[in-house]
Amino acid sequence: VDKNVDISPNNPQLEKAANLLKQNEVVAFPTETVYGLGANALSDDAVEKIFEAKGRPSDNPLIVHIAELSQLEEIVTFIPEKAKILMNTFWPGPLTILFNRKPNVLSEKVTAGMETVGIRMPDHPIALQIIHQSNLPIAAPSANRSGRPSPTIAEHVLEDLDGRIAGIVNGGDTGVGVESTVIDCTQDIPMILRPGGVSKEEIEQVIGEIAIDPGLENKNIIRPKSPGMKYTHYAPDAPVYLVEGTTNFLQELVRNKQNDGMKVGVIATEETQKEYVADAVISCGKRGDLHSVAHSLYDTLRAFNNLDVDIIFAETFPLDGIGLAIMNRLEKAAGHRWIHQ
Ligand code: TXA
Ligand code: MG
Repeated sequence: VDKNVDISPNNPQLEKAANLLKQNEVVAFPTETVYGLGANALSDDAVEKIFEAKGRPSDNPLIVHIAELSQLEEIVTFIPEKAKILMNTFWPGPLTILFNRKPNVLSEKVTAGMETVGIRMPDHPIALQIIHQSNLPIAAPSANRSGRPSPTIAEHVLEDLDGRIAGIVNGGDTGVGVESTVIDCTQDIPMILRPGGVSKEEIEQVIGEIAIDPGLENKNIIRPKSPGMKYTHYAPDAPVYLVEGTTNFLQELVRNKQNDGMKVGVIATEETQKEYVADAVISCGKRGDLHSVAHSLYDTLRAFNNLDVDIIFAETFPLDGIGLAIMNRLEKAAGHRWIHQ
């Protein structure tokens, strides 16, 4: 997060962004997770522009971003006790909570026909200020072309959406680096539909037992409850393989492919990158600090598109804490292709 950005209400950039949103245009802005592509959630026209710019399937609902708790009551029918605890603990922050929505408030296109709506209050001064100044609930998916890794710097947004949107507010790089956790609080036992910036362990500490959508684990057998989780996503142009094994084992895979005449990339970590000889080796952070991996993951995946590689081997990570979100995104980038030692 760029601490130098002027977030006073008279910053002309933020004022312009808020005005564009009021005029039902789409504007990209930073949040603490990834850049979002915002639009007035009350307007069919505005929301339609998001789907067009991203090339997003219309059956995939959008998250609504708010800056004040008072906005929530206008949108949802009921705030369950456990949701209140989660809001008090993690908002503003990387947690999206599903509520039952009031009819005829939001554009139907936001929720793609679902009875629930996902809401979050982002923990980023620019996002909060823009939402506040627009005085609207803001629908905002990640600001990437559908299927590409989510943007963590303004340049990623330009790469994907230049010429397709009204503007970008550049706030430097985002903090968390992976998207918010999506949790359904309309059931007795809340269920995580997408792992993200707030971990399962952190949530359980405040509300006790929660479930994880079984559709996340049994990829092809059960349909995930979150429509977005069924699409291929985050994939670089070259195929990615997840490797479970030692660095020597991974290096052997590299050598074999190079012997076949292929150019090979490796997604490594600070601790291991020196152990590989390949056509491109990129560290996605420190294995000893999984938050640093989450922070750099999408930038790493994008970087391979500017490198001449035919195949990518990626190290894998433990599933604890933010590791669950990291592995969920890596699995999607790899289309669930694994190589075990
Ligand atoms: O961190 C984030 O959440 C970012 C920033 C910009 O806030 N936004 C984001 O939005 O990741 P998007 O649209 O890329 O992902 C939203 C995910 C999708 O997987 C979507 O299917 C799911 O949330 N989702 C949204 N509303 C839902 C609902 N009512 N029921 C089930 N899943 C829902
Ligand atoms: Mg997205």
